[in-house]
Amino acid sequence: MVTQKPVLDIRGLSGGYGKLRVVDGVDMTISENEAIGLIGRNGSGKTTLLKIIMGLLPAQTGSISIAGEDLSRKGAWTRCPRGIGYVPQGRLVFPRLSVEDNLALGATSVKGKISDSYESVYELFPVLHAIRTRRAGALSGGQQQILAIGRALMSKPKLLILDEPTEGIQPSIIIEIAESLKRLSRESGVALLVVEQRLDFLNRVADHAHIMDRGSIVERLPFDELSRSPELQQKYLGV
Ligand SMILES: Nc1ncnc2c1ncn2[C@@H]1O[C@H](COP(=O)(O)OP(=O)(O)O)[C@@H](O)[C@H]1O
Ligand SMILES: [Mg+2]
Repeated sequence: MVTQKPVLDIRGLSGGYGKLRVVDGVDMTISENEAIGLIGRNGSGKTTLLKIIMGLLPAQTGSISIAGEDLSRKGAWTRCPRGIGYVPQGRLVFPRLSVEDNLALGATSVKGKISDSYESVYELFPVLHAIRTRRAGALSGGQQQILAIGRALMSKPKLLILDEPTEGIQPSIIIEIAESLKRLSRESGVALLVVEQRLDFLNRVADHAHIMDRGSIVERLPFDELSRSPELQQKYLGV
């Protein structure tokens, strides 16, 4: 029997900015089909953790393995070809380029034709097909968010990492995005790591919650346990 390697396995991971340590000793394992919601107050280190995972900030200690390969000392360019898609906080689409060209930029590590990638992204988000010739800068915040997710999916990742995908977008689009991510995980087995403040969004998407406080993961629990616990929500989220 072949035992499947986790898509992402991090051990004792620490890092920050210069000598400042923001993330301290994080362990996390994500396998195919799993969807983890990473939550915690503002400033607890969630974005910093994602940047270290992506190789955008160096790891001060610990290891990051992706599909069994240790990439903790390798740069950001190694992530996409090994199946990690990243949707950064604030979306960062290219405003002067069309939707289609923004999507193409997500496929630079794809060998051969990218028509398959377009097809599966348009199938998941038909709205992107409808607006494919428009400039990204002219789109609503919600459409830009969908574009940023579509762009990350062009390389057909095994793990999609999203940083606050609902920030500043309309409720109707929030639900549409949640449903599409759920479908992606269910039908394509794509693993998800989602940083998000909105528990109603995560409730539709995540099966596990990891709670971050001052740079460390302090709780791991099934998502519905968190939904049912006003005490935990009060303690770590202040809601
Ligand atoms: N570029 C930076 N330089 C120095 N400190 C930073 C930088 N970005 C974030 N920080 C600090 O790191 C801590 C965690 O920030 P961040 O990871 O953005 O938190 P979260 O995403 O959970 O809100 C905060 O105290 C923040 O001030
Ligand atoms: Mg953040």
